[in-house]
Amino acid sequence: MKRRRLAVLVSGTGRNLRSLLDHIGDGRVRAEVVQVISNRPGVAALDIAQTAGIPQRVIDHHAYRDRAAFDALLAQTIDGAGADAVVLAGFMRILTGEFVQRYTGRMLNIHPSLLPLYRGLNTHQRALMDGQTEHGASVHFVTPELDGGPVIKQGRIRIRPDEHPEDLAERVFQQVEKPLYPEVIGWLASGRLELRQGRPHLDGEPICAPLLADFDAP
Ligand code: GRF
Repeated sequence: MKRRRLAVLVSGTGRNLRSLLDHIGDGRVRAEVVQVISNRPGVAALDIAQTAGIPQRVIDHHAYRDRAAFDALLAQTIDGAGADAVVLAGFMRILTGEFVQRYTGRMLNIHPSLLPLYRGLNTHQRALMDGQTEHGASVHFVTPELDGGPVIKQGRIRIRPDEHPEDLAERVFQQVEKPLYPEVIGWLASGRLELRQGRPHLDGEPICAPLLADFDAP
């Protein structure tokens, strides 16, 4: 089967991009990253793309008069690269409904919380402030509602007593996001994962409640 061609959208350190490339590199995910796009110049994610020999482009959102103009160039760049799916990997920019609709069922995001809890920012801190005992990350199809698309799979860890937000964020990334996101991207890339009538399906079976796995270190 032809390798699925992915465009990866980034804004920062690119750890999720790196993990995806590692999984592709050793054959755990069958896909090809054909374009990396950042809305911020000079970020580490661009260096990762450069080192991997992947075409990269900066579309600095400050240079565009409104979201629609920015998103139009984003879509043009994605389609111009011949990408057939879009992976948001630490992409810190709200997308227009029109853009999201164009990639319905072909665009994934990872969010560092057990959605629907803690949409938006500062998820780790908010979970700690609320006295939660568990936290994690969720991979979902992107819909116009911010962090509100149907969740495919979540990874959960136990919060440690007196844990600091930075430590929790690091553990959520290392233990959950790093393995979880490539796994789900791999499902999409292989055609096992589809969005039908707004509901994710894996191997033809509807995912009625998000798949949930514990990712605590042994
Ligand atoms: C992660 O917490 C991810 O869930 C969020 O951005 C962070 C990762 O950024 N959306 P990056 O992959 O290191 O750029």
